[in-house]
Amino acid sequence: MSNDDVYAAGLLNRALDPATQPPEIQAFFRAELDLLHEVIMEGMRVIDVGCGTGRHLLLLRDRLRIGVGVDYEHSYIAEADRRVGRRHLHFITADATAIPVLAAFDFAMCLTNTWGTMSDKTSVPRRLAPKPHTRLLSVYSEASVPSRREWYRRLGHTVLEESHACLVTEGGFRSEHFSEARLRSLLGDCTIRPLADIAYVVTF
Ligand SMILES: C[S@@+](CC[C@H](N)C(=O)[O-])C[C@H]1O[C@@H](n2cnc3c(N)ncnc32)[C@H](O)[C@@H]1O
Repeated sequence: MSNDDVYAAGLLNRALDPATQPPEIQAFFRAELDLLHEVIMEGMRVIDVGCGTGRHLLLLRDRLRIGVGVDYEHSYIAEADRRVGRRHLHFITADATAIPVLAAFDFAMCLTNTWGTMSDKTSVPRRLAPKPHTRLLSVYSEASVPSRREWYRRLGHTVLEESHACLVTEGGFRSEHFSEARLRSLLGDCTIRPLADIAYVVTF
């Protein structure tokens, strides 16, 4: 199975259940939420690439002028739509590697290692609007491997292969992790900060 098939089978919904998450993963999820509260300002136009069921935009909705979430898994977008109930949030089913350049947004984000599950590493960063807009990725660092191994095992995806940059599970899920050097080689000039011991937040 590819990641597309794994997501279509609903992996995200089980992964977002805190009962499946080792403490390090829970801490990372909390740190992402704290970060968003710090960096997303009142009145911003925000796009979330690989938004899943829309939890981050839903959390921020009261301070956004407009929020758009994009995900290629239609059942997640349908769930986000069901939860939204506010007109300034919009959820669209689309492949993020094929969307136009996103210049209409102040802030473009790709969270929770979504970028690390995309096979094409160059396309999405190129499509997020250039400066002065902010582009933010949160990705797993190499220190995340033990807790991700345990999390994926609990989700029925025992890790079969591990390399310096990637875990591959028996269910066919492929999830990458990053060193600072690898991030710079992929993204060029960027700012990298540690997030909750097992991740990085990258702006560029
Ligand atoms: C790790 S999950 C994170 C979901 C969401 N950001 C969250 O934190 O709840 C990755 C998401 O990215 C989506 N995704 C992966 N590759 C994609 C692509 N090329 N285009 C659009 N969505 C993609 C998956 O369907 C999945 O919902």
